[in-house]
Amino acid sequence: MKEIHVLSDIGSISQAVAEKWRVLSEQAISGHGGFHIALSGGSTPRHLFEFLATSDYSKRIDWSRTHIYFGDERSVPADHKDSNFKMASDALLDRVKVPGSQVYRMPADADDIQKAAEEYSRLLKNNLPASDDGQVQFDLVLLGMGDDGHTASLFPGTTILEEADKLVSAVYVDKMATWRMSLTFPVINNARNIAVLVAGDNKKEILAKVLDDKSTVPLYPVQMIQARGDIDWYIDTAAAQSTSHHG
Ligand code: 6PG
Repeated sequence: MKEIHVLSDIGSISQAVAEKWRVLSEQAISGHGGFHIALSGGSTPRHLFEFLATSDYSKRIDWSRTHIYFGDERSVPADHKDSNFKMASDALLDRVKVPGSQVYRMPADADDIQKAAEEYSRLLKNNLPASDDGQVQFDLVLLGMGDDGHTASLFPGTTILEEADKLVSAVYVDKMATWRMSLTFPVINNARNIAVLVAGDNKKEILAKVLDDKSTVPLYPVQMIQARGDIDWYIDTAAAQSTSHHG
């Protein structure tokens, strides 16, 4: 099921997603013994991560049964200012009691990034629960959306958009002249739950096209998601102002 939640600001988005995280975590832990989540990168989720680390959610979530993966990563070292791993570690992972052995960084700075992507795919196959058809299944995938409609590192015009088998792939992004590593649509689509977080005035134009303009051809990558489970959009009033979902 698809649901769009319009909330006043990034703070209320963070509270709503933290509660979603807590509920899904409890269900997953009682259902199959662990909660497997892929974190999004960029700037939007930082507030959520900090809220989880500093609110009473830090005590209400069973971090000992939580397994942290990444939706995508830049080809930089783990301590680089642009690293999604560093952002998540500074804002959350170093501040709660999630075992280090249950945090799986995407090594997008590996010399052979495609081989590293294949290894990360194997990690997912070994660690994650599977849906009825045997496909690996995240309990929750967090996603953001760029102002070009990309999500994770699934950028417009890149070959990874057509990837139908691999779970994780390396992708060269011409517009940024850099390599990325990203989950692909097959594993994103198979997640039990997807949460897309979009905030800020700078996203109003692209969000209006993505949510309301069905004539866009080719589709923006974030429109190409075909969630088998639930997908919840959490958008703030600034980003929603040009959409049909404005308050
Ligand atoms: C990344 C992210 C990317 C992000 C969007 C939105 O590595 O950059 O995974 O997909 O979610 O670019 O980024 P902002 O939240 O910074 O707008």
